[in-house]
Amino acid sequence: MNDVNTKLIETYVKTKLEHNNNGHDFYHALRVVANIKQIATDVDCDLNICIIAGYVHDLIDYKVAEDVETATSELCEFLKSELKLDQHQVALILDICQTISYSKGLKLSSTEAKVVQDGDRLDALGAIGITRTLQYSFATSRPIYITGDKSDSSAIGHFHSKLYKLYDLLNFKVSQELARPRLEIMKQFEQQYISENSDLD
Ligand code: ADP
Ligand code: NI
Repeated sequence: MNDVNTKLIETYVKTKLEHNNNGHDFYHALRVVANIKQIATDVDCDLNICIIAGYVHDLIDYKVAEDVETATSELCEFLKSELKLDQHQVALILDICQTISYSKGLKLSSTEAKVVQDGDRLDALGAIGITRTLQYSFATSRPIYITGDKSDSSAIGHFHSKLYKLYDLLNFKVSQELARPRLEIMKQFEQQYISENSDLD
């Protein structure tokens, strides 16, 4: 495969994610690609496939696409006609997009999927992870904090229901190394938030 046509793909993805306000915007895609490049320095994988999948991984998610079926056909057409990928490459990228989600909990069928999943999960952690969670909570009218909540009902509850669990679920050691300081800042944030809020308890 030729090197990834970054300009073409970024223009396409930007148009699709421009208006997203629930933490799945164009900059999320860019950061996931940056994470993938870091992880891939330590993992034997097809980097071009990982990069393309990193850019497009959210385009066929229900949180982003109004109509997932139409978005999927459009994405396949883009990968075939514009990026000139063959059928096998398109199938691999589609499989990655459809299987890496935490909520689906599926077993991954390629090393490339594991790299992209870790890249996506790193962006759910750290200072960025905190702000994306707040953004998602505002967009879905959820409160930031409910005393003792460890469910999806509040932003800090979501740290417990999902985000803190991601560390052990990462596929590669290199991802865990990158995740460690991110996890730490989230725990500090939670502690500090609760202590500043404690007069209300
Ligand atoms: P995945 O594709 O791995 O299932 P999502 O797209 O559902 O991940 O979630 C991506 C990010 O959106 C999360 O890391 C979090 O920041 C935010 N998010 C998702 N669900 C919630 C929720 N119930 N409350 C707060 N934030 C959420
Ligand atoms: Ni994502």
